[in-house]
Amino acid sequence: MATLIEAASPHQMNTYGRVPIALSHGQGCRVWDVNGKSYLDGLGGIAVNTLGHNHPKLVPALQDQIAKIIHSSNYYHVPNGEKLAAKLVELSGLTNVFFCCTGLEANEAALKLARKYGHDKGIERPEIVVYEKAFHGRSIATLSATGNEKVQKGFGPLVEGFIRVPLNDIEALKKATEGNPNVVAVFFETIQGEGGVNPTRIEYLQQLRQLCDERDWLMMIDEVQCGMGRTGKWFAHQWAGIKPDVMPLAKGLGSGVPIGAVVAGPKAAQIFQPGNHGTTFGGNPLAMRAGVETIRIMEEDGLLENAAKVGAHLRAALQRELGSLPQLKEIRGQGLMLGVELTRPCGALVNRAAEAGLLISVTADTVIRLVPPLIMTTTDADELVGILAPLVRQFLAENP
Ligand SMILES: Cc1ncc(COP(=O)(O)O)c(C=O)c1O
Repeated sequence: MATLIEAASPHQMNTYGRVPIALSHGQGCRVWDVNGKSYLDGLGGIAVNTLGHNHPKLVPALQDQIAKIIHSSNYYHVPNGEKLAAKLVELSGLTNVFFCCTGLEANEAALKLARKYGHDKGIERPEIVVYEKAFHGRSIATLSATGNEKVQKGFGPLVEGFIRVPLNDIEALKKATEGNPNVVAVFFETIQGEGGVNPTRIEYLQQLRQLCDERDWLMMIDEVQCGMGRTGKWFAHQWAGIKPDVMPLAKGLGSGVPIGAVVAGPKAAQIFQPGNHGTTFGGNPLAMRAGVETIRIMEEDGLLENAAKVGAHLRAALQRELGSLPQLKEIRGQGLMLGVELTRPCGALVNRAAEAGLLISVTADTVIRLVPPLIMTTTDADELVGILAPLVRQFLAENP
């Protein structure tokens, strides 16, 4: 059966190199395209579909909400917004939340918090430490914080006030900021997603926490991709037993309904005052219900434990099937956020996997990224590896 569709979006701007399929519906970890072909979902809408597709507890709750009220505006209180904020405070150990709609918006809010934190202390030109290979979004400020020239190319002049350092090198950070009184924050992902699934080491996180305390900097951790249970803890930095001062979230928080949040601790929670920040759709009743229900279902169904268990199983199976290939550089990540790095670019695998009935992504040119729904089972994981491993072997045989 023909499953590929060609040049399907001639009226949309040419912003995405799309896989030539159109998805029509899903169930659990499986989706179907408009031609009826089924795919195992190893991508989860890029770490978004926490509960998979058509979840039997989420869908009725969202239907109920849509029939009641979708949007009301921030002129008014939204009871589920307070409920979700309280839950995020409980899970993170932080104190207050601002809601928005996307990851970049959450990161913009974090950057504004850091700048105002500086201004409130009398620092007129605040600077923020950011990282090589980081990805924080595609607005002008967040692409300036991003450590990828491809993302920045053509959009200069970039926003100033960023100091870039390599990941996991505390001495490099100390050197880059030595004697600089304008530094107000460090901003990074616990596991870099788009940059190639690069984990920040636990000792580095702990050293960084100490340095931020000593120097009165905000520790701002972008958990947009690695947060919300994906690594087996609610937030990936919790593996290091530390707390950030500011934590942007998005992606998996609403299991597919657009939502973003910035969670802040005592050092940052009171910085914004009325009129400093806002967004029309942020915190709307539909998104808030999606967040409340996503977390409730994750707790009821033990999805953190599942992410840890199935992630370990998936990683072991990948290691078993691919570990001996000379072109395999490394398998890394945690829980259900895994990267398989090859020694050569492998973007072509995305379409080949789709043809074979599997959705994946390739990031940073050489890294196969797996960020499936957190409901994935070990049987699904075995099926995933059963499809992916032969494709990788064949691809490498053709492209040594
Ligand atoms: C770590 C991280 N931060 C921010 C973003 C941007 O999120 P959004 O695409 O929702 O703006 C992404 C998206 O991939 C991300 O992975």
